[in-house]
Formats: sequence, C-alpha cells, structure tokens
Amino acid sequence: MNAPADPTLRIAPDVRLGSGVRLHGFVNLYGCEIGEDTGIGTFVEIQKGVKVGARCKVSSHSFLCEGVTLEDEVFIGHGVMFTNDLRPRACDDEGRPLGDGGWRCVPTLVRRGASIGSGSTILGGVVIGELAMVGAGSVVTRDVPPRATVAGNPARILNPCGKEAS
Ligand SMILES: CC(C)(COP(=O)(O)OP(=O)(O)OC[C@H]1O[C@@H](n2cnc3c(N)ncnc32)[C@H](O)[C@@H]1OP(=O)(O)O)[C@@H](O)C(=O)NCCC(=O)NCCS
Repeated sequence: MNAPADPTLRIAPDVRLGSGVRLHGFVNLYGCEIGEDTGIGTFVEIQKGVKVGARCKVSSHSFLCEGVTLEDEVFIGHGVMFTNDLRPRACDDEGRPLGDGGWRCVPTLVRRGASIGSGSTILGGVVIGELAMVGAGSVVTRDVPPRATVAGNPARILNPCGKEAS
C-alpha cells in the first residue's frame, strides 16, 4: 500500500503497510512492516526491521526499536519504550563514536493478544507471552508467561495462577 498523503506522516518508501492500517499524525516509520487493520497513534516511531502484526493497537508516543516483533492483536499503551541494547555506549574505549555496527541488537517478541500498559519499558531479549498483561509503568526484565499479569519495577507476576481478575 502507498503511504497516505498527510504531510505530517514520515513514512519511508521501504515501509510495508497492510490494508486497513490507520496512521495518526506525526508518526515516523522506516524499514518496518505493519499488518492489516492495525492502528498506530500519533508520535509513534517504528524502526527498521520491526514487524507489527495484524489488528494491533499502538498508542501514542510509543517507541518500537529494531529487533521488536509484535504478533497479531497486541495492545501497546501510551509511551511504551522498547530497548534493544542491554549495555549501550556512545563511544568505544578510545573515545571514538560507535557507529551502526558498534552494538548488538537484542530481539524482543510480544506474542499474540498481549497488552503492555502505558509508560512501560521493555528490556531487550524478553518474550511477552500470549495474552499476557503488563501493568502501567512496569519495567520488564524477564520473560512474561502466557496470560500472566505482571507489574512493577522489576515487573513481577500479580496473578500466579495466570487467571484474569474478575
Ligand atoms: C496491572 C493491571 C492490569 C492490574 O489490574 P488488576 O488485576 O485489576 O489489579 P489490582 O488493581 O487489583 O491491583 C492488584 C495489586 O497490584 C498493584 N498494581 C496494580 N497495577 C499496578 C501497576 N501498574 N504497577 C504496580 N503495581 C500495580 C496494586 O497496587 C495492587 O497491590 P496491593 O494488592 O498491594 O494493593 C492494571 O493495574 C494496569 O496497570 N493496567 C494497565 C493500564 C494501562 O496502562 N492502560 C493503557 C491504556 S489507557
């Protein structure tokens, strides 16, 4: 699909948009793939190599970095920050700025139907399980089991039996 004509949308020519994708103003997308009927909120940045599934919702001000994969029907709240470099440095030991090849990208997977609450930070290398729920403001440092609810910094399981609160 061709990028829509809204001048506030920065969509690189290499972005693959599925049919029915809804983009709000001031998004910045490059080298990524967005599945059909997914909505992307305002001020969202999605980097190269990211795959967003179908029927996802990515709320405003979130950042999806290289290495992130969202399966179908994932909910991303407002201002969610993914990360992909576990020990980031600006320069090498000699003080030379590190370029594109000077770091290791650590991938992150969010499985089908999972939800991530607003203001959360997701450390690279984790898998967030199917239909899991991450509470607002969490820092996720470990894998989240399917259907578990986690919250806090570091995020811990709130519902050990994996059941939704009624
Ligand atoms: C995590 C969440 C799903 C839990 O909801 P819940 O199952 O109804 O849980 P409760 O409100 O009964 O809280 C259970 C306990 O977890 C704590 N808790 C709940 N959410 C928390 C959070 N985000 N961070 C830290 N602790 C949290 C509560 O304080 C409570 O602790 P207590 O038993 O010591 O009082 C919910 O609080 C949440 O954060 N939802 C995400 C909201 C969001 O970001 N929406 C995005 C779009 S607007």
